[in-house]
Amino acid sequence: MDVTQRIEQALEAAIQRAEVPESPPKLAAAIRYAVFPGGARIRPRLCLAVAQACGDDRPQISDAAAVAIELMHCGSLVHDDLPAFDNAQTRRGKPSVHSACGECEAILTGDGLIVLAFEVLARSAVAAPERLPGLILNLSRFSGVSHGIIAGQAWECEPSIISLDAYHRAKTGSLFAAATASGAIAAGYAPEPWVVLGERIGEAYQVADDIQDMLADPEAWGKPCGQDALNGRPNALRELGLDGAVCRLKLLLEGAIDSIPACPGAAELRKAILAQSSRFLPEGLVRRAA
Ligand code: IPE
Ligand code: IPE
Ligand code: MG
Ligand code: MG
Repeated sequence: MDVTQRIEQALEAAIQRAEVPESPPKLAAAIRYAVFPGGARIRPRLCLAVAQACGDDRPQISDAAAVAIELMHCGSLVHDDLPAFDNAQTRRGKPSVHSACGECEAILTGDGLIVLAFEVLARSAVAAPERLPGLILNLSRFSGVSHGIIAGQAWECEPSIISLDAYHRAKTGSLFAAATASGAIAAGYAPEPWVVLGERIGEAYQVADDIQDMLADPEAWGKPCGQDALNGRPNALRELGLDGAVCRLKLLLEGAIDSIPACPGAAELRKAILAQSSRFLPEGLVRRAA
């Protein structure tokens, strides 16, 4: 089975858990709407790529780790789009969850996805119970209040002197770090050496997102442009200019590649990351900067 099938099948199994007869039907439908059809699925791909580079000796637990991260990501997007945050009407080319299902259902959908992420991990534990505490701790750490997505979103609500890179690392780098570190834990490796790889890829991804926030075609991009200026968010293109932002993105990706720890599949992983990251920005924008 290829990686896309692994991810979609494991996500489908997880979402079906929210669709039992006892579940409130509108909430169950909103949860499915938030997860399918997916976007880039870049975080679970990264998680599985690291697990494979480390031998992937327990695929069931790697799948659970990858799915838990994607569920956390989907939940964070639902909350991010809410009127209290970015007030975005579209996401992945369709109405955002609160636009389609209402604000109450959207808040509960985000909450439900966060809880489901941890449930998926717990249910996979039979495959390797000794790896479960590490996976739980890793996902909590990189989603949470001090270093995780929640911290990143909170910096938007608390005017402060946080730097652009620290803000990007918290709101986006953290979940990418969760992806690389979880991939390692799922395959029986120590997580710490894998954190920098995820953080750098995630920061680069957010720089690309900031550039497109100002320059993409919203129809093709599937979500509204100009959100950062509208909401007063720090933005890499506005702070660094196009040349500066593209240069920062390239440096981050080089740093990411250089940080790949020794493991049996390091060469393959390097190739996979280069292939994925070459699609972070449309060719036309890279040429404009050059
Ligand atoms: C959107 O993430 C939020 C950012 C961190 C830029 P993605 O671009 O990965 O969203 P989907 O999952 O592909 O829709
Ligand atoms: C959001 O960053 C990152 C999250 C933690 C959800 P953005 O607000 O830039 O993401 P988009 O542009 O809405 O996808
Ligand atoms: Mg947003
Ligand atoms: Mg954005």
